[in-house]
Amino acid sequence: MPDIFERERRWIQPTYTRQPVVIRRGRGAYVWDDHGRMYLDFIAGIAVNNIGHCHPRVVEAIKNQAENLIHTSNLYYTEKQVELAERLCDISGMNKVFFCNSGTEAVEGALKLSRRHTGKKKIIAAKGSFHGRTFGSLSVTDKPEYQKPFQPLLPAVSFVPYNDAEAIEDEIDDDTACVILEPVQGEGGVNIPDDEYLRAVREICDENDLLLILDEVQTGFGRTGKWFGKDHAGVTPDIMTLGKAIAGGLPMGALLTREGVEFGPGEHASTFGGGPLVCSAAIATIEVISSEDLITNAAEMGDILLRELKKLELEVAKDIRGKGLMVGMELLKEGAEIVDLFRESGVLINCTAKRVLRFLPPLIIGEEEISRLIQVFLERRDEIESI
Ligand SMILES: Cc1ncc(COP(=O)(O)O)c(C=O)c1O
Repeated sequence: MPDIFERERRWIQPTYTRQPVVIRRGRGAYVWDDHGRMYLDFIAGIAVNNIGHCHPRVVEAIKNQAENLIHTSNLYYTEKQVELAERLCDISGMNKVFFCNSGTEAVEGALKLSRRHTGKKKIIAAKGSFHGRTFGSLSVTDKPEYQKPFQPLLPAVSFVPYNDAEAIEDEIDDDTACVILEPVQGEGGVNIPDDEYLRAVREICDENDLLLILDEVQTGFGRTGKWFGKDHAGVTPDIMTLGKAIAGGLPMGALLTREGVEFGPGEHASTFGGGPLVCSAAIATIEVISSEDLITNAAEMGDILLRELKKLELEVAKDIRGKGLMVGMELLKEGAEIVDLFRESGVLINCTAKRVLRFLPPLIIGEEEISRLIQVFLERRDEIESI
């Protein structure tokens, strides 16, 4: 039998550049490979495993639900879906929910709804944005290399500098439907705007009668040290998109709306959206985040992580920034080889936007895990500086 790397190459579309490690098992902040080697996970499935791997309460919720009902479609009512919608609105201050299955689908729904609500077409997005890979969300993603093979995409999308509210104002015309922004840009390199920025954008949208979509797919569920990234600025969007950490590792997306921003019957749908299995996992995930006070922990550990990274005074580090446990170290050069060094030393990290080392650990980590990460920087300092 050929090894798994060969079989993957033979049978799976070559869309991903994978790290050469086969992960078999995960628990808390750690995963184990097929040789039984343990790794500290500082990327958490790209901001998905916020409550750690295989949290016992989520595993139990999934098992219980799987024994009773896995899928019905949205032809019928299920209690778990309604319960989850209530909880999501409770923690976010939003008014209604549409369930889907991924972040990109949530963004698709948000773009459709903004057209439906305003009757207008133009969308303003930010430079450095990432919103997903399907046609609508790719259209508002500022990555020409991702877009190029698939043109034409949605017409009438303009990209303006991030953290510049005036640039948004200048771009608005009579046909502008919405502004879509990430409260902190993730894939674009952990870019953190001023709190004032989101408040100013909110005002501009109100004055011009357009919708503000906040994409909280990566920033949601405690990642930045509050339930949602918007909470730092105290801003309520018209539509908020969710995904990633929402269901403790199961695939789910959602869009949440403000009062009065609604689809009509039959205008949008998803066969799997809000199925009882994922909803049970999501309810358990929200309970874990609350009962284990993971949001406070994310804020506290985020501060410590930032402080410790800065203390290293690496010459190769151009900037170190973060909000909660969404932390980036911008390098003077490309960082892929540093990711390899960390993996060899038993710590999984990631590099985004080519030059930004990204740290997105589960929100359950403590100072011990942070020390382990810092220890790798110290042990391999010379190699890191000379890459
Ligand atoms: C802010 C943001 N929006 C949307 C997406 C797309 O989510 P998904 O990969 O679940 O489609 C991502 C994924 O990284 C993201 O970071």
